[in-house]
Amino acid sequence: MNILLETIALQKIYKVGKIDVEALRGVNLRIRQGELLAIMGPSGCGKSTLMHVLGAMARPTSGKVMIDGENITGMTDNQLTAIRRKKIGFVFQKFNLLPTLTARANIEVAQHIHGQAAGSDHDQHLAKILQLLMIEEKMGRKPFELSGGEQQRVAVARAIANRPAILLADEPTGSLDSKNSEIVLNMFRELNRRFKQTTILVTHNPELVAYTDRVIEMRDGVVVSDNDPIPRDTESELVQPARSV
Ligand SMILES: Nc1ncnc2c1ncn2[C@@H]1O[C@H](COP(=O)(O)OP(=O)(O)O)[C@@H](O)[C@H]1O
Ligand SMILES: [Mg+2]
Repeated sequence: MNILLETIALQKIYKVGKIDVEALRGVNLRIRQGELLAIMGPSGCGKSTLMHVLGAMARPTSGKVMIDGENITGMTDNQLTAIRRKKIGFVFQKFNLLPTLTARANIEVAQHIHGQAAGSDHDQHLAKILQLLMIEEKMGRKPFELSGGEQQRVAVARAIANRPAILLADEPTGSLDSKNSEIVLNMFRELNRRFKQTTILVTHNPELVAYTDRVIEMRDGVVVSDNDPIPRDTESELVQPARSV
């Protein structure tokens, strides 16, 4: 089994004046390559904080994050930036498209920032993504000439154009009406099936659960349920002596 993401005893404390806000209080997670999962929980339970730490955008106060077998916890800012550019795509609630650029330019700018050519079949790959997201015809438009659902689909294309191993989406349907939410969620599923990037959707909206294979619930900075956990002690169980009967 290929574990792509792992957190061990992850803790994050924000200092607000003299007060410590403990946003993550010992999160242990293992996520398989290619999984499509939802991290659910009420507002304030630590979902976005977890997302930022998983995406190498923020550092934990203590604990470990492993991405693709590498412990990123002790890395320098430059190393974290490199990991982010190479391995992670982000989608945000508010789309975060640059308002003066066309949809195509928004996608291209991100790819330039990411630097590396994504392979010789890059144009074909992008064309496939745009087709699946049904936005090929909209590439010449600016964000204000697109619906919310279309803007979010452009943001998704931007996030995955360089084939990141991990796609992180924080409340991706939080600014969409129910019809557009359904469209976008179906597309996350379709993209996950087709391109196999590990996809983590974070939300407080229980409706999202229907679209994912695995659901992890958080409360007050800890994981309280997981419908498909990966046992942490699989290896050690194997080497334990057989019980006598
Ligand atoms: N930058 C910050 N500074 C101080 N407190 C923060 C900061 N970001 C989040 N928090 C606090 O940490 C807790 C978890 O927040 P967050 O991760 O945003 O939860 P969620 O995404 O589930 O709503 C909340 O109590 C929130 O107020
Ligand atoms: Mg949040």
